Amino acid sequence: MKLSDRLNIIYNAIREGETVADIGTDHGFIPIKLIETGKSPYVVLVDISCDSLEKGRNNVQSIVNEEQKSIIDFRLGDGLKALDFAEVDDIIIAGMGGRLIRDIMSYDIEKTRSFQKFILQPRNHSGELRYWLLNNGFNIVSDILVRENKYIPEILIVESGMPLFDISELNEESIELSVPVTLADNDKQLVIELLERNINNSKKVLDNLLLSSDNKTEMVKEYEYKLEYLTEFMKKVK
Ligand SMILES: C[S@@+](CC[C@H](N)C(=O)[O-])C[C@H]1O[C@@H](n2cnc3c(N)ncnc32)[C@H](O)[C@@H]1O
Repeated sequence: MKLSDRLNIIYNAIREGETVADIGTDHGFIPIKLIETGKSPYVVLVDISCDSLEKGRNNVQSIVNEEQKSIIDFRLGDGLKALDFAEVDDIIIAGMGGRLIRDIMSYDIEKTRSFQKFILQPRNHSGELRYWLLNNGFNIVSDILVRENKYIPEILIVESGMPLFDISELNEESIELSVPVTLADNDKQLVIELLERNINNSKKVLDNLLLSSDNKTEMVKEYEYKLEYLTEFMKKVK
């Protein structure tokens, strides 16, 4: 199974011998690769949609052999509700909105804490997700960028632990969380592109705010601060 760059980064975050559940699996490509290569001794495919789970099941049927099929399980269900307490080591939740990922993780926090590692790939609202993680005893050990067509998805590797920096002054809208400085460890070109997109968006919002007649002083200050942060970040990267 040849994986896209995005899925391959997620696959690489799993260590040899770790058991895995792929929540919102759809095509099931990562579980298939984990089984094909023998990296995982047990993999659970979870999806809330019957059609999506069927897609994953059909792909598994056509690719993996009879012996490998015995270490794969399929569950129709909502997020981590489909799993038992500590049933697997690692949880993958990829290709969903950041708020949905947060809701899945916060539904039963004790169960969520029973898993060792999370590989999360929010399609949006990554700052809100980071805020929730850092305020709920999870640490982001790696923040990875990858190119996927016109998108630059972010992949967060998350484990239990205390945040490595002070978050007491931040909120879920903070630019420090939606574009954290830890992203600087990625490919320079990708970081520059991501920063350019954010700078352009912030400039557009700020221009519109300045044109509007309503009193939006607080929002203007907020976007001026975001622009300053992003511009400083860009200087450091270049
Ligand atoms: C865009 S696909 C992502 C597929 C794959 N994970 C990837 O990253 O390429 C999102 C999948 O998540 C499933 N999904 C959405 N909400 C879910 C939930 N609460 N629990 C389980 N699966 C969910 C959808 O049915 C869909 O199959």
